[in-house]
Amino acid sequence: MKLLIINGPNINLLGVREKHIYGNESYEDLLRFIDEACQKAGVEHECFQSNHEGDIVDKIQQALGVFDGIVINPAAYTHTSVAILDALKAVNLPAVEVHLSDISQREEFRKISYAGMACQATFAGLGFKGYEKAILYLKELVK
Ligand code: DQA
Repeated sequence: MKLLIINGPNINLLGVREKHIYGNESYEDLLRFIDEACQKAGVEHECFQSNHEGDIVDKIQQALGVFDGIVINPAAYTHTSVAILDALKAVNLPAVEVHLSDISQREEFRKISYAGMACQATFAGLGFKGYEKAILYLKELVK
């Protein structure tokens, strides 16, 4: 079983950006955390991060026939991108949405998630742990 783990804009700046919201740990720390979680779960994975909406759409399209599921934190594109929603619907792979922060408790504009409409589950407000929960959720769903 192979999972694609997508992170959207500014997630590469973890540990630098708004530490009171996203914490002190870096994107490299997140990659290590995901690597360990996948090893423990016995699933293969690839991580992809981009600040560009079209690149994320391309990556989702290319996942068809290669990956068994997608974990996605679309970051700011969560709240704006119908293109990412449509790409997730188009490939129709099991997908789980993750947010480090609890988007339901923040500004009004963060309460809408387009990508979430094509996802089987959402884990938000759990920090890095949300990625592990998403990985385990997809492992159960796909097996
Ligand atoms: C985020 C929440 C989004 O609203 C925000 O734009 C991000 C990160 C999160 O992981 O909490 O960049 O997706």
